[in-house]
Amino acid sequence: MLRLGHRKNRDKRVSSHVALTARAFGAMGIYFDVADERLFKNIEDVVERWGGKFFVKHVGSWRKIVKEFDGLKVHLTMYGIPLPEKIGEIKKARKILVIVGSEKVPADVFKLADLNISIGNQPHSEVSALAVFLDRVLDGKVFSMEFENAKIRIVPSERGKRVAELGKEVE
Ligand SMILES: C[S@@+](CC[C@H](N)C(=O)[O-])C[C@H]1O[C@@H](n2cnc3c(N)ncnc32)[C@H](O)[C@@H]1O
Repeated sequence: MLRLGHRKNRDKRVSSHVALTARAFGAMGIYFDVADERLFKNIEDVVERWGGKFFVKHVGSWRKIVKEFDGLKVHLTMYGIPLPEKIGEIKKARKILVIVGSEKVPADVFKLADLNISIGNQPHSEVSALAVFLDRVLDGKVFSMEFENAKIRIVPSERGKRVAELGKEVE
């Protein structure tokens, strides 16, 4: 994942949701082009408690990451080609870098990306766009994800909250 244009004050909640959605739906990690240590720490705390190997990295130059990425670069934008038209090509890729914006993205993203893909051609959110993209491309992996070394795990239940913590079960 590459999240462009995080604005520390305005975007901290959405950026956090982008990262948590990426992690929960099967992405390996997230790059931010803006350093926000508090945000990074929050995401890392979630990984520490809930497990898995999700990485969070600040990149000095997002253009360098995009140019040097050795896989398929997919920019999610409402102006792009509808996902169903390109899903076959995307699923063949060994590695994918998914790029989402916050406000307006720099114009050259459209050229640097291999594909500009829309999740419907109406404006909505980077969180919803990412969730639909990952769900379709990874065929519902969100429902079978395993997070190794988790300190905490939810036990699905019809009602209430059941949480298992390091061997012991807490109601
Ligand atoms: C709140 S939107 C900002 C849209 C902005 N007004 C623009 O012109 O790009 C933030 C991000 O959500 C994603 N997004 C929003 N709607 C989308 C859609 N229909 N399809 C794909 N991605 C979308 C894009 O990655 C976009 O950069």
